[in-house]
Amino acid sequence: MDYQKFVEEQIQSLRAAVGNQTAINALSGGVDSSVVTVLGFRALGNRLKTVFIDNALMREGEPERVVKTFAEMGIPVELIDARAEFLAALRGLTDPEEKRCAITRTFYQDVFGRLVRNSGAKFLLHGTILTDIEETVAGIKRQHNILAQLGIDPEKQYGYQVLEPLATLRKDGVREVAKVLGLPDAIVHRMPFPGPALAARIVGEVTPERLATVRAATAIVEEELADWKVFQYMAVLLEEKATGIRNGQREFGQIVVVRCVDSVDARQADVVELPWPTLKRICQRITALPGVNRCLYDLTPKPPATIEYV
Ligand code: XMP
Repeated sequence: MDYQKFVEEQIQSLRAAVGNQTAINALSGGVDSSVVTVLGFRALGNRLKTVFIDNALMREGEPERVVKTFAEMGIPVELIDARAEFLAALRGLTDPEEKRCAITRTFYQDVFGRLVRNSGAKFLLHGTILTDIEETVAGIKRQHNILAQLGIDPEKQYGYQVLEPLATLRKDGVREVAKVLGLPDAIVHRMPFPGPALAARIVGEVTPERLATVRAATAIVEEELADWKVFQYMAVLLEEKATGIRNGQREFGQIVVVRCVDSVDARQADVVELPWPTLKRICQRITALPGVNRCLYDLTPKPPATIEYV
């Protein structure tokens, strides 16, 4: 495939679709929404408004880092603090689908919907890729970003029209486009990170305390495995607890799972055989976190497991 040509075609068709109106998009910092942001900015310039919504579920320092990366490319991104709204929507929820729905609803109907209405934009650019559509259609998972494929009319329901310039590409194709667009390596080769963010890595209720735990564990895993050129690695906080001993006292502590998988396109995944010393170091650091007294390594491929836990 000629990705240079793809870029030119998408820029042309975004210009044609939007005309002299304005468009808006939400950037998460992932390769998909980053590519859409650059395509949109090249097509529309300042008629594209890009927002980064801090949903309280991001990794350590992520919102500021993403905004800074785009500022360095000359693309302005507005950081929206919606942490309280997302945490309120998630309070008390433990069921995976209910959690995902609460995040979808808060994102589209409340926070982003409000931003779109206030901005006056009639077009929403979205980084939906082919795999999202296929998995949603197959009923494997309700991807949060596929309103149209789910039969929800975004125009009727949310008052705006969705444009999906990456809908014919898989992840590897999106990375090729990212290279053509000159995006920094950190974005081109960035690991996938799910839309529901750290909420996909907390089994059970998402609270500020539990988020702090999984965020700290995630930072440890990402730091220790930074040199591993594999598909994805993560930390997951379980709902169950286990007894342990700390400072000579018994404690009923939290359990963190470490997962590291290799995959081509996320449809199947194999567990990476990490060396024992690496696993032991990760375990030592994670069990030094307050209230965490077990660290497990997940040996399950996909299928039968999915990559994420929620
Ligand atoms: P699963 O857990 O279904 O994940 O094996 C497959 C790949 O997709 C990512 N993932 C998501 N990405 N929104 C996204 O944008 C989501 O809701 C979502 N859920 C999972 C996951 O990280 C993995 O790479």
